[in-house]
Order: sequence, then structure tokens, then C-alpha cells
Amino acid sequence: MRRAIELAMRGRGGVEPNPMVGCVLVAGAKTIAESWHEQFGGPHAEPLALRMAGDAARGATAYVTLEPCCHERKKTPPCVPALIAAGVARVVAGCMDPNPMVNGQGLALLQQAGIEVEAGVLEKECRQLLAPFIARTTYRRPYVTLKWAQTADGKMAGPMGRRMAISNATSNRLVHDLRARCDAIVVGVKTAVSDDPLLTSRAKSSRRLLRVVLDPQRRLPPTRQLVRTATAEDPVLVFCLAEYATIHGIGPGVEIVPVDSDPLRRDHLHLRSVLERLAERGATHVLVEPGPGMIRAFCEANLADRLWVIRSPERVEHDSAPAAPVVDWPGVAELDVAGDRLTEYLNPRGEVYFAATESADMLKAREDAKCKVQSAK
Ligand SMILES: NC(=O)c1ccc[n+]([C@@H]2O[C@H](COP(=O)([O-])OP(=O)(O)OC[C@H]3O[C@@H](n4cnc5c(N)ncnc54)[C@H](OP(=O)(O)O)[C@@H]3O)[C@@H](O)[C@H]2O)c1
Ligand SMILES: [Zn+2]
Repeated sequence: MRRAIELAMRGRGGVEPNPMVGCVLVAGAKTIAESWHEQFGGPHAEPLALRMAGDAARGATAYVTLEPCCHERKKTPPCVPALIAAGVARVVAGCMDPNPMVNGQGLALLQQAGIEVEAGVLEKECRQLLAPFIARTTYRRPYVTLKWAQTADGKMAGPMGRRMAISNATSNRLVHDLRARCDAIVVGVKTAVSDDPLLTSRAKSSRRLLRVVLDPQRRLPPTRQLVRTATAEDPVLVFCLAEYATIHGIGPGVEIVPVDSDPLRRDHLHLRSVLERLAERGATHVLVEPGPGMIRAFCEANLADRLWVIRSPERVEHDSAPAAPVVDWPGVAELDVAGDRLTEYLNPRGEVYFAATESADMLKAREDAKCKVQSAK
């Protein structure tokens, strides 16, 4: 099952809004096929493994991270009939499918066909793999990652909040790769004004990256790069309070999205509503690139599922530089990135937290960092 989880993670960035799923077929003590769901709309992990194994699948055991699917209302044929037809003797599932159209039915059908079934092997780890899918199906919101860089003395910008390059070129490349696997990238208005970011990804991707600014009182000026590069095909969404939505538009391609105010802070946006709107637009995974205020807002609302914190060895040594809040969540993975340190934290109180395991993104970053070392030799 551990191997099936590793394989599943290779689908990150391609399968969403589907879940990542991995499959290992074992006959006796021998692995006869390994597969994973690679691309949304493409074949599921199970038929890929069955095709690879051919006749050897008869009598074999299938380890799958997620209960096999049995419903017809989707892009590909269901996997349960394929497992039955291939003559698999045993199916071991990591966890049940939270999708109400499946939930338990897939395993029940396999059992009715005389296949031995077992569920709940490395269940928490398998559920953690599904965290973005569960966020979407159960909580109607995308999975949220907060990513920021800070100096050795905990600063997130230069004196007086001036923009400052903190992370190194390799860290920046990993961040661009992460952006390319996400569906939306979110900043607060102060960052949009002071740093003037483009919020694009330099990495190759088949996904569309929606650029988003949280701007309760519509303070984003039309001179910012985000506004100047917004087009109908590549829009920028500006979330604001309803009473500010009626002011004149900012520019073509900038879409104003009114949301409710936070009941505890009338001048702030209700972050869960923002996320719900993004889920309605198809976002499974949102990357927030916050300043200190935004970090606190997402953490206080318990809407930060994961943090990526990049710590550089540089120091600012200036009291007027904004400081990052102290993170008291346990780190689940760490990576040395050419002298910067990338730490991944999962929110232990989060709605979609199940196990303290490294994410597929971190695994990809680790592999990528390794590749770089090898190619540099
Ligand atoms: N090192 C990094 O990785 C990094 C990344 C991004 C930004 N920065 C730096 O951080 C600084 C800006 O940080 P910041 O936190 O002040 O700005 P921010 O990230 O742009 O977000 C904070 C802004 O959002 C508002 N806010 C807080 N909760 C909100 C909510 N629920 N809905 C809507 N708005 C909400 C705040 O309003 P109030 O002012 O009313 O509280 C404030 O205007 C800049 O110096 C920038 O260079 C560093
Ligand atoms: Zn399936």
C-alpha cells in the first residue's frame, strides 16, 4: 500500500479534480504491475494495472489506495467490473471513496462476485492523499496551501515592507512548479500593491491558473501588472465586499466578485465564501502567497490546510520589516534547497487533516532537487 501511495502521487497536477490513486498488483510474492491515475479523463489506475498484467492478473491481489469505482456517470468505465472480469482474487483498499455514489458499494460489489476484500490499510495516509478531493466533495472548497519566504530573523519583506528577494533561484523554481500544479493563486491587496506581482507560472502546465486578489475595499489601482495583464482568457478575479462591487470596473479581464464580510471583522472578506466561489469555478487546490496579515486571517479561520515555508540564511535586521507569525504546527517534511530550507507543515486541526505525511508536491520538489544535483555533476 505504501508503494501504491507513492505511485498515486505521480498524478499530482494532472488528475485534479479527480483524486490521486495508485495500484499495485501482486501475485504470490511478486509485483506484476504498478500503475497510477495519470490524467483527468484518462484511465484509472486499476485498468492500467490489469492491462499491464494481462492473464497474470487471474488470482492476483490488487492493492489500491482508494476503493475501486462502480458508478457509470463519469468519463471512464467503472473499475469494479474490470477487476471482476480479470479474475482478481483479492482487493485491498486503503480507504473508502467519500463520493456518495460509491462509498462502500464498490467493495460490496466485488465481494458479491466472490472476491476477497479488505479495507482500511494505511487508511489515514490514503485519506491524506485524498485531502484536496475531500475538501471539494465534503466541504465544497479547495485545498489551501499558504506559501511564504522568510529570512533567518523571521522577516517577510525589507524595511517598511519594501519588496525584497528572500528565497534563492532554486526555491523560486520549485514555487513556480507548485503554482503550475494549482488552480488559483491568491494574494492580499497590500501585496498586490507593494510587490506588484504577475502571479503566473514559468513552469510548463496544462492547467489554467486563475489569479486572485483579496481586496475588500477595492484599492487595487489599474497601474498594477495584474490589472494590465488581465484578459478575457486569463482573467484576474478581485474579491471585494458587496458594497464596493458596484464601483466602476478596473480594466478588461478583471472580474469583480462580491462576497460577504467576515462576521467578526466587517471590513474583511469571509474567507470561506471566497474559497467556495473558487471551488465553483473548478479550483481543487489554491495557493495563497500571503503577507503576515493574510497568514493570520487564514489560520484564524482554520482555512489553511498546509504551509510551505522557505527560510533563507539572509537577515534584514530592521524593526520596521514585517515579521512572519511563528508556526507552531509540527513540520512533516523538510528539504534543503541550495542553502534555503523548505519546510512543509500540515494543519493538525484542519478539516482535511488525516496523517502527518509528506505531500505529493513535497515529493516532487525532493525529486526535482535531486535531479538538479545529478544534472549539475
Ligand atoms: N515573504 C513573502 O513570502 C511575502 C509574501 C507576500 C507578501 N509579503 C510582504 O508582506 C507585506 C504585506 O503583508 P500583509 O499581510 O499586510 O498584506 P497582504 O498579504 O496583502 O494581506 C493583508 C491585507 O489583507 C487584509 N486582510 C486580512 N484578512 C483579510 C480578509 N479576511 N479578507 C480580506 N482582506 C483581509 C488586511 O487588511 P487589514 O489591513 O485591514 O487587516 C490587509 O490589507 C508586504 O510587505 C509584502 O512584501 C511577503
Ligand atoms: Zn475507477
